Amino acid sequence: MNDQKQHWNQLHSQGAIKDYAKKQTDFAEEVSKTFPASAAVLELGCGLGNDSFFFAKKGHAVISTDFSETVIEQNQKHYQKQQNLSFQVIDMSKLLPFNDVQFDVIYARLSLHYFTDTITKQLFTEIHRILKNGGLLCFICKSIDDSLYGQGEQIEKDMFQFNGHIRHFFSEEYAKECLTDEYKIKVLETGEEDFYGKQSAFVKVVAQKI
Ligand SMILES: C[S@@+](CC[C@H](N)C(=O)[O-])C[C@H]1O[C@@H](n2cnc3c(N)ncnc32)[C@H](O)[C@@H]1O
Repeated sequence: MNDQKQHWNQLHSQGAIKDYAKKQTDFAEEVSKTFPASAAVLELGCGLGNDSFFFAKKGHAVISTDFSETVIEQNQKHYQKQQNLSFQVIDMSKLLPFNDVQFDVIYARLSLHYFTDTITKQLFTEIHRILKNGGLLCFICKSIDDSLYGQGEQIEKDMFQFNGHIRHFFSEEYAKECLTDEYKIKVLETGEEDFYGKQSAFVKVVAQKI
């Protein structure tokens, strides 16, 4: 596998997704309606931080994270005046540097689908550890119905490297397997949407820690 951090630092320094980050996403708007008031929110793989900014403006206390130093530095400058919003460099493939039951909401849009099965399961265990009981996990991943599925070099089941980009495509079954029986699943949907100017297939999940 190539160095994904270098890959993303390069994409972010080129501003590769900046045209799509001028406002909050539909997913952020949709799920934010279910957040408790003044929630402690963690975003994983925030990219340009537009959804975190939206959550902070709604009065939530947001820690927004990404493993790309490049994008976190940009976000720290860009959003320095926004209260209740801080940015941290965090690599999700490692253990997460947060306390047990720290967050009301963990939010991840198009950022949990980069890891091997072993690391993905470790990440879901970490998410479960740091989420409060009754807290919400909201995520969208690319699905096995996506047109990029199967392209490039296969790394393991449902995981491919294509044009330098590694993706682990999710199915509804795989999302359920990752959640285990420790969540009440409130939303589990597949569908298609335009992501970064390209029609993409996704699995969408909102789950509540039991
Ligand atoms: C497709 S972008 C999504 C950005 C944003 N959430 C959005 O919806 O526009 C994926 C993001 O995940 C980040 N990322 C990839 N691997 C990561 C890892 N191991 N740890 C933390 N962030 C990671 C990338 O730097 C990138 O910003």
